[in-house]
Amino acid sequence: MKIAVAGGTGTVGRHVVDVVRERGHEAVVLSRSNGVDLVSGSGAAGALQGVAAVVDVTSRQTMSAKASVEFFTSVTRRLLAAGQEAGVGHHVALSIVGVDRAPHGYYAGKVAQERLVESGAVPWTILRATQFHEFAGQLYGRTKRGPVVAVPRMKSEPVAAREVAERLVELATGAPAGRVPDLGGPRVESMAAMVRAYAHHTGEKSLIVEVPLPGGTGRAMRDGSLLTQAPADHGTLTYATWLWLRRPTV
Ligand SMILES: NC(=O)c1ccc[n+]([C@@H]2O[C@H](COP(=O)([O-])OP(=O)(O)OC[C@H]3O[C@@H](n4cnc5c(N)ncnc54)[C@H](OP(=O)(O)O)[C@@H]3O)[C@@H](O)[C@H]2O)c1
Repeated sequence: MKIAVAGGTGTVGRHVVDVVRERGHEAVVLSRSNGVDLVSGSGAAGALQGVAAVVDVTSRQTMSAKASVEFFTSVTRRLLAAGQEAGVGHHVALSIVGVDRAPHGYYAGKVAQERLVESGAVPWTILRATQFHEFAGQLYGRTKRGPVVAVPRMKSEPVAAREVAERLVELATGAPAGRVPDLGGPRVESMAAMVRAYAHHTGEKSLIVEVPLPGGTGRAMRDGSLLTQAPADHGTLTYATWLWLRRPTV
């Protein structure tokens, strides 16, 4: 089966491509570094020829609702239009648990994406996942100012991107299922503790400070709004084991 992975070079996308190939399917990677820009459309013509399913795991890093809505709307419209033209039978989109329960700018784009997929002409499946294990390290890099790293007070239920990829491929090779149960990790963790564990693991000496963010997004981070709601599926790899597996080998 030929599966197009939009964003197949990203954090979860590269795992999706691996899993597609490991399971004997053909992966077509759509990303700018592979010559396909799904916002401008450059290189996109004919990219879905012969494709049975599309997995959309594209992203743009932004806190701006306007930029996020523009990005996810452009990419989704393009993929759905090209999918309809090429006779793609299944569009699978990855979203985030709680996108409609927090007024975060980036989440506005994810909500817009979900609505377009739901009302689009290509049969669809939407999976919402929690933060990936990789998120704590990304947050460390993005929020480090000199020796200080300010981390939002946040309850998370992190999941390995590889386990999200396995679920996405399972869904893409099955029948379109609409909204499916959330996918989270095996346990609820504090984001500050995860960032501290990341820093310890990588030998970083920064001072990690937990900060309660103001406003609705900060409240949603603290009150569990970004955790899975039953019925949900759960990965098995804990953050601690995932970090341990990434230890340098000699
Ligand atoms: N990160 C998390 O913790 C998390 C949790 C749950 C759900 N999600 C969702 O999972 C999805 C993937 O997230 P991620 O963290 O894996 O993203 P990521 O690492 O930032 O990767 C983004 C991907 O999108 C591609 N891309 C960006 N702009 C593009 C464009 N104009 N045209 C074509 N491809 C483009 C990038 O490739 P090029 O740069 O080569 O174009 C890359 O392959 C997102 O929708 C996100 O909302 C993320």
